[in-house]
Amino acid sequence: MAELSSQPASASASRVLVVGGGSREHAIAHTLQGEGATVFVAPGNAGTASFATNVALSATDLPAVVAAAKTHAVDLVVVGPEGPLVAGLADALRDAGIPTFGPSGAAARLEASKIFMKEFLARHAIPTAAFAVFDDAAKATAHLEQLGRPLVVKADGLAAGKGVVVPKTVDEAVEAVKAFMIERVHGEAGARIVLEEFLPGEEASFHVLCDGERYVALPAAQDHKRVRDLDEGPNTGGMGAYAPAPVVTEAVKAKVLARVVEPTLKGMAAEGHPFRGVLFVGLMVEDGEPRVLEFNVRFGDPETCVLMPIFRGHWRTLLLGAATGALPAELPAPRPVHALGVVMAAEGYPEKVTTGDAIDGLEDDAAGEAIVHHAGTRLHEGRVVTSGGRVLCVTAEGATLEEARDRAYARVATVRFRGEHHRSDIGARALVKR
Ligand code: AMP
Ligand code: GLY
Repeated sequence: MAELSSQPASASASRVLVVGGGSREHAIAHTLQGEGATVFVAPGNAGTASFATNVALSATDLPAVVAAAKTHAVDLVVVGPEGPLVAGLADALRDAGIPTFGPSGAAARLEASKIFMKEFLARHAIPTAAFAVFDDAAKATAHLEQLGRPLVVKADGLAAGKGVVVPKTVDEAVEAVKAFMIERVHGEAGARIVLEEFLPGEEASFHVLCDGERYVALPAAQDHKRVRDLDEGPNTGGMGAYAPAPVVTEAVKAKVLARVVEPTLKGMAAEGHPFRGVLFVGLMVEDGEPRVLEFNVRFGDPETCVLMPIFRGHWRTLLLGAATGALPAELPAPRPVHALGVVMAAEGYPEKVTTGDAIDGLEDDAAGEAIVHHAGTRLHEGRVVTSGGRVLCVTAEGATLEEARDRAYARVATVRFRGEHHRSDIGARALVKR
């Protein structure tokens, strides 16, 4: 499988529907609009409403999304979140003749089922943590007690980023098994689980655009999963990101391409499900050795906020190329920028979230040096109020990572809402190394 070898996408999409409503979709929609497209976002948020047309619908209502794509005569649909992809949205849109960025429902199983993903990795000898699958809580508990040390506990199905527990003790692991399999805190998603070895190291988010045959790898990004500084507190959907991430050196990248990306894309094609869209490889890198933590079948959020600036001006071509089997012959030269995004979260996130609070300071954009990407926001009586756990992702670019960080945090300081919290150490791992 060649990394780069194709004709450039000939047509350029001029009307695009972006499906979703997080900071990822804000960043994609804003970037495409900046490249000249007329953009619709379904359902979008208060941020996307300020420059694009929001379409009020549920992203998992497949007939409604197909109808909206037709009504607005779009020539490209970009699907943001995994839920609609797993439900078969890309299939439904392609069946209707609409070029769509996103994998088929069958290919989306790489994210929808941890068991499918782990067994796929094992089948294709792709490096990952050793694991075992359980459909019985008593057997899983016995396995942990016999082993005498904690294993990472993962619900098989989608659980909005909450289906993984990294326990410190056997007791905590047993508790997680009970919560997933007996109490069913994530419903059927926890009916079966994976227990796997803890992998030490540093994480990276490695995104690969694929058109079903060819691929191009984007520079690595790094997310910050834990809610508090110094990686403390529970896991979240992601509290901030930056790119490029130096943990993925050229040598690590070469290993990821040869040992993970190539066998995965070849394997999916050989199994009858060629991958089209973006494959997001969640990596753990230890001493220069990458292993797969997970696959996602869509862009990371907030990683997208920091990846968009690097290829600004080229995203329409890249996304349409991946959608239509015509990735450009060469990835354009990356802009020589560093980008960093800080998530501002609502009170209680990631547990019980309070919403409905007015957000102040959105208007005074500090000389255009940062973009306030919206996530959980909506308009209420003419004001922007919080409507979800992750509320905003304040993103800036700079000639250096320090500059990007300073610009992003300067803007964060001007935005306020009751109960707001954010991490103050986004980018620290990369900055400490220099
Ligand atoms: P996942 O959704 O599988 O990526 O898991 C969510 C988060 O849990 C990851 O981003 C890691 O921070 C952590 N995690 C998952 N699996 C492991 C593992 N085997 N070893 C260490 N940390 C893990
Ligand atoms: N930020 C991690 C994710 O999108 O899954």
